[in-house]
Amino acid sequence: MIRIRYFRPEDFNRVVEIAEEARLNQDPMLYLELYQLFPDGFFVAEDDGNVVGFVIAIMMVDGGGRIFAVAVKKSHRRRGIATMTLNEAFKMYRKKKTPYVQLEVRVDNYPAQRLYRGLGFVEVGVLPSYYSDGTDALLMRKDLQGPSQPHISGTFV
Ligand SMILES: CC(C)(COP(=O)(O)OP(=O)(O)OC[C@H]1O[C@@H](n2cnc3c(N)ncnc32)[C@H](O)[C@@H]1OP(=O)(O)O)[C@@H](O)C(=O)NCCC(=O)NCCS
Repeated sequence: MIRIRYFRPEDFNRVVEIAEEARLNQDPMLYLELYQLFPDGFFVAEDDGNVVGFVIAIMMVDGGGRIFAVAVKKSHRRRGIATMTLNEAFKMYRKKKTPYVQLEVRVDNYPAQRLYRGLGFVEVGVLPSYYSDGTDALLMRKDLQGPSQPHISGTFV
């Protein structure tokens, strides 16, 4: 059974493995720094006690939210796990009265774009050469103040 819970420091190695498999190309030490700054936004998904996915949701200085990272272990994709973990992040943001959440996604990352569009994100801009290999990013945003959308929820402990 999939269970969503807060990240704990002992999950770090597992999270790094998932991030590497997903080729997120982010500095893992930043994950720990973000956890220290905003532990309420770092969620993991567990399958029978094993961490199989994570989301790092942070706050921006203007009070908006930002999804910094999301990834699911390859063996566990297309089971709604990213949707469940992101929905926990949206709940957290709504509790904090965050007006919107945004993220960047590679223009060629169609699976992630489809995931985000399905969750109510819309494209609000293009960030040219945003990634180190020169690929552009789409900037996507989701309004958090409208009525809640029906969604898949995991068990949150
Ligand atoms: C993107 C990612 C997080 C999705 O995780 P996931 O747990 O498989 O996503 P979900 O099962 O919640 O998918 C929800 C919906 O997103 C879309 N989606 C997800 N993966 C997809 C794929 N490979 N192809 C097409 N659509 C996809 C579908 O609409 C899916 O609904 P469906 O399965 O009912 O058709 C995962 O593929 C991943 O870790 N990718 C590598 C890291 C990455 O790209 N992160 C995002 C960086 S911005």
